[in-house]
Amino acid sequence: KEPGGSLVSLLLKNALVVDPSQDLEEKAAILVEAGRVARIGRIAARKSWDVIDLPGCIACPGLIDMHVHLREPGREDKETVSSGARAAAAGGFSSLMCMPNTDPVNDNEAVTRFVIDRGRRTRAANVHPAGAVTKGQLGKDLAEIGEMVKAGVVAISDDGHPVENDQIMRRALEYSKIFDIPVVDHCENRELAAGGCMNEGATSTRLGLPGMSRLAEEMDVVRDLILSRETGGRVHIAHLSTRESLHWIREAKKQGIAVTCEVTPHHFLISDEKVATYDTNYKMHPPLREQADVEAMREGLADGSIDCIATDHAPHTTLEKDTTFEDAAPGIVGLETAVPLVWTFLVRPGLIGVRRMVELMSVNPDRILRLGRGTLKPGSVADVTVIDPDRAWTVDVQRFKSKSRNSPFDGWELRGRAVLTLVGGRVVHRLPAGR
Ligand code: DOR
Repeated sequence: KEPGGSLVSLLLKNALVVDPSQDLEEKAAILVEAGRVARIGRIAARKSWDVIDLPGCIACPGLIDMHVHLREPGREDKETVSSGARAAAAGGFSSLMCMPNTDPVNDNEAVTRFVIDRGRRTRAANVHPAGAVTKGQLGKDLAEIGEMVKAGVVAISDDGHPVENDQIMRRALEYSKIFDIPVVDHCENRELAAGGCMNEGATSTRLGLPGMSRLAEEMDVVRDLILSRETGGRVHIAHLSTRESLHWIREAKKQGIAVTCEVTPHHFLISDEKVATYDTNYKMHPPLREQADVEAMREGLADGSIDCIATDHAPHTTLEKDTTFEDAAPGIVGLETAVPLVWTFLVRPGLIGVRRMVELMSVNPDRILRLGRGTLKPGSVADVTVIDPDRAWTVDVQRFKSKSRNSPFDGWELRGRAVLTLVGGRVVHRLPAGR
């Protein structure tokens, strides 16, 4: 290998190459040279090249998860930038955006630079931080957005918390427009959420748990749409969970409002009835909703009204989960299960095609964050994900690269896994054959 290990030419052959950015879906070889895609097509291997044979597999632009919580700085016991980036690579993600709800909060250029530096050192995935909307994510004063953008944030968000103050949200959208970055909003109107720990409805009543009204999400979504309409700033709705929110986003898109949105695998797979187990791995914000919402999310994914699938990877210690439902920390890890879940429950049953999957998990997040990835066009940086659609896997949280184990998918039997991830032409993950 040449110094740095990355510059040997690499030929990925016999995979079905799916790249919506160039309207490409054909069995072809991908030649990677000096960290970039050199050519795609019929290519005869040369002796000096590394060759990876991928019959039956799908090769696509590297997947991008635009909603990840790395816990560094502050809670390195749950996740570090390095462990999170390795979990991303293992799950088939070559890039991620990490949220600013760390300790200290990423609301200034020093923390932004720290996270970026840590990300570069891992060399496992491209780590792009989001900066906070408000100082300390306290909702009172706007953070130094310009400075953070200069230092490298690709979006701003108070995720984990809503931006409660309408005037601050308005100003955030105005600023974000200047820098052409999205404001990613965690829509959860505090009064309506009323401190609930699960979805408010028949199940919460039956279980006697305090409910969080679905109106809490819808109310903030509608507010954001109005403010985006007025300011022209781009708003991205994080972890969409209700059918009403989706309805308003569809309407807003028809009107040309600059809105995009994402849904997590858990919100298109699991309903709040699971909370009856009191398993705290079913606790997250927003909470799991009703079956009709789960189905609405799937429809939105299939018909194009939802732009992205993002995991909201939220690592927590066993201690923080091993308590009552009300007291448990909200959130689940998702980087290592997303691809198999999407493959097993959306692509295999034919709800969405492979091409749409690649749009949802690479092309669209790239377009929203302006990363310049999400494509295999010749000359572009060789971030590549290879999926083996037939690879069977029983999820075992003990084998996660993530430092945390909080997943409701433990023991699920899935099909379709990322077997190879390249970042800048370097192999950052390769699953041994047959495992
Ligand atoms: O469930 C969640 N956990 N939702 C969020 O918005 C924040 C996240 C976390 O940071 O743990």
